[in-house]
Amino acid sequence: MTRPRRIVVLTGAGISAESGINTFRDNGGLWENQRMEDVATPEAFARDPQLVQRFYNARRAQLKDVMPNPAHLALAEFEKTFDGGFLLVTQNVDDLHDRAGSHTLIHMHGELKKSRCTRTQKIHEQMADITDNTLCDCCGTPTLRPHIVWFGETPLMMDEIYQALDQCDLFLSIGTSGHVYPAAGFVEVARQAGARTVEINKEPSLGIDHFAEAIQGLASVEVPAFLRTL
Ligand code: APR
Repeated sequence: MTRPRRIVVLTGAGISAESGINTFRDNGGLWENQRMEDVATPEAFARDPQLVQRFYNARRAQLKDVMPNPAHLALAEFEKTFDGGFLLVTQNVDDLHDRAGSHTLIHMHGELKKSRCTRTQKIHEQMADITDNTLCDCCGTPTLRPHIVWFGETPLMMDEIYQALDQCDLFLSIGTSGHVYPAAGFVEVARQAGARTVEINKEPSLGIDHFAEAIQGLASVEVPAFLRTL
């Protein structure tokens, strides 16, 4: 197998599962005891902003109790020594790739540790809870929302992602069930670019047939092992 020169890695909730963060679809359709449509849509935020803020406040606070696992660390370590092109795209809104030391990283579904002003669209660092009394730094009004891409909203930095997919010769998908587009369609773009396509997941994903190779197992074991083969 020739050594890849341009790699795109896509990660999903499964890579953070062993760090203690629940995945979205492994718990009987509920995400942290909530139906996704009650907390992860613009309609939910319009209907009950306090419920949505409380939900994301709890997710943000949970980050203090979790650590990157060997899969996050192996990706960061690999990137440091790899001399080709490397882009890590995550659907995760946690900060575990950041804390592991990944450098070229796109959070396509947003970040828990950021908020966005709904008036100016400015993005702010957000460590504390957002409450009714939290004022935005840019306009001094209580108009912050979580910087999260909800269902029905457009993921971030798609042009950069598609450009990298069009040029990659290895596409690696880790810990994602393949239910949510556009991320679930990345494998097809990479395949058409002629890339080697590999899935690492605990169980076959919905999109497994689009991949040339599939490795079933835990990310903490299989990701470091796969990267060692490159
Ligand atoms: N190692 C590898 N894979 C794992 C592990 C593990 N330790 N634990 C779970 N998985 C796999 C599951 O088998 C499942 O296929 O990770 C996948 C997680 O799938 P989802 O919960 O659907 O998460 P994800 O694909 O990231 O969801 C995509 O949906 O709700 C939205 O915006 C949200 O970014 C999220 C998007």
